[in-house]
Amino acid sequence: MSLLPYDDRDGVIWFDGAFIPWRDAKVHVICHGLHYGSAVFEGERMYAGKIFKLEEHTERLFKSAEYLGMKIEFSQDEINQACHDACVKNGIVNGYVRPIAWRGSEEMGISAKRTKTHVAIATWEWPSYFPAEIREKGIALKTTKWKKPAPETAPVFAKASGLYMINTLAKHEAEDEGFQDVLMHDYRGYIAESSGANIFAVKDGKIHTPIADCFLNGITRATIVDLARSLGYTLEEVRITPEELLKSDEIFITGTAVEVTPIGRIDQTTFSVGPVTKDLMSKYSDLTLAHSREKQFA
Ligand SMILES: Cc1ncc(COP(=O)(O)O)c(C=O)c1O
Repeated sequence: MSLLPYDDRDGVIWFDGAFIPWRDAKVHVICHGLHYGSAVFEGERMYAGKIFKLEEHTERLFKSAEYLGMKIEFSQDEINQACHDACVKNGIVNGYVRPIAWRGSEEMGISAKRTKTHVAIATWEWPSYFPAEIREKGIALKTTKWKKPAPETAPVFAKASGLYMINTLAKHEAEDEGFQDVLMHDYRGYIAESSGANIFAVKDGKIHTPIADCFLNGITRATIVDLARSLGYTLEEVRITPEELLKSDEIFITGTAVEVTPIGRIDQTTFSVGPVTKDLMSKYSDLTLAHSREKQFA
């Protein structure tokens, strides 16, 4: 991954309907999205020239905006096309795509119904979320004190910027202690997810994943549920306690960025990267490549 700061790069960013130079894609410091966290975003991956599950991501972006009472003034087709064009114009063939929608500067205050919803799309190269040697033996998760809030406390099903405040706090704490990521419990004390990915556990050949009733129901999560079942695995969505999780034979996380990543340790308990995880890692990779061979845009 390049170490260039994200505001000082070559290339173009799609900004409210047109491509502009990367360095000019700015918002004013008096902006509702910045002050009050009124922004929603997506994280997508392009594999060999095609964005995986593009339509699902765009649909979720619009749904997230709706949860926050924001109206995106483009059609989903226009955003799909713009995501693809952003990759082409920046010469990205394998990379990450980041659409974001936010309330602008037209009004300042808690109530901001008259703000315009702006949309931007940036893309960059991003080979692997965790270094290959760490991925291979599994990453280490530290249990954080921060809990996923109840659905009546926050718009938990939106991919909303404001909800990531606790994820960043938790991840910083984990990294300071030498862990790669965090394990978050929900407000009831059940296993929820990591800072940017959903979690799965394998016990006696059966796969379990927490019921997505207070956290993001990931697009990769849904893909893995379907994939595992189509491969003949028994997979159930259940509530998982921290004690039950530690008794698992294998644990892995899923997300657009992390893809399928094995867990090698949770706090002081170690896990090996087992056959089910390896199988799903490889089958997920096959799926993204098979998908990339289908035509997306003319
Ligand atoms: C908090 C959180 N949970 C889960 C996920 C996984 O979602 P997806 O598979 O749609 O990328 C993400 C990534 O977007 C995330 O940020």
